[in-house]
Amino acid sequence: MNSLTIRRPDDWHVHLRDGAMLRGVAEYTARQFARAIVMPNLSPPVTKAADAAAYRQRIMDALPEGADFNPLMTCYLTDSTDREDLARGHVEGVFTAAKLYPAGATTNSASGVTDVANIYPVLEKMQEIGMVLCVHGEVTDPDIDIFDREAVFIERILGPLLQDMPGLRVVFEHATTAEAVGFVESSGPNVAATITPQHLHINRNAMLVGGIRPHAYCLPVAKREHHRLALRLAATCGSEKFFLGTDSAPHAKEAKESACGCAGIFNAPYALESYVTVFEEEGALDKFEGFASLNGPRFYRLPVNDGTVTLEKAPLDVPAGIEAGESSLVPFHAGQQLGWRIAD
Ligand code: DOR
Ligand code: ZN
Repeated sequence: MNSLTIRRPDDWHVHLRDGAMLRGVAEYTARQFARAIVMPNLSPPVTKAADAAAYRQRIMDALPEGADFNPLMTCYLTDSTDREDLARGHVEGVFTAAKLYPAGATTNSASGVTDVANIYPVLEKMQEIGMVLCVHGEVTDPDIDIFDREAVFIERILGPLLQDMPGLRVVFEHATTAEAVGFVESSGPNVAATITPQHLHINRNAMLVGGIRPHAYCLPVAKREHHRLALRLAATCGSEKFFLGTDSAPHAKEAKESACGCAGIFNAPYALESYVTVFEEEGALDKFEGFASLNGPRFYRLPVNDGTVTLEKAPLDVPAGIEAGESSLVPFHAGQQLGWRIAD
């Protein structure tokens, strides 16, 4: 197959940032995707419907002329989330979903939830109105090894939560382990997961062998090879429970290449090309449209997009760096050649 035409896809998990960085990166997501679930971990975080509406307008203002892109906003849950504002924001169409960051789990998560028990009334309200909860599924207990934090989160937090609220609609974001895949598969239709391109391409060796490679570092961190293989199977097997979410998370080059480098991989510029490479390698190009364009809207109860995008087999040289606003960014696959590109 030399080309593949699919319905226009969406990105169900992206960090677009704010200010100059937003103005520098928005075009990449808008070029690839019709819609995106925009993460709320700004500083300060997006916790109120009015903040989300203002942020959405800044995103629209950052888009290139003529872009056809619809940002879907999320609420950053805290211990003191106002559930009436949240529910009203959802009903009025400002908030598509809410995001649970365990406090301290990742970038700008300091205001996150310190104990899920603190937000039970909020989650009960979300269950009642059918609002989607996006979950960063890692515990932050310092006694838990970083490579085990996702599996322990499922065991200690998410499993019990879904027992208490079996109707809660949950997206397990950026699944990185065989345990997450198994949990999602064995849960009801109200539980789904996004998978990033990096977790399909790399395991932890990419980060640590031959030197420490900060541009392969994100959270949750890439795990052992057998987890990567479980994710590839989940993404490409045709299950409706898994869909595209890049977790593109730009940080300036110097903030990554540091003694304490930031977590996040900037994959927005070539996300579709990166994903489709995996589907081709797995002999599953016929499953790509479901993963990229159909399963997400079905889970979020939104229409699939009008229009199509065509990917063609042709060499694509990924640049070593991309200038965005006042920052230099190093994209995922920097300096490599991919075998697919978006047709003009
Ligand atoms: O690698 C990550 N970067 N993981 C996250 O959960 C947050 C993100 C960011 O905002 O930089
Ligand atoms: Zn993220």
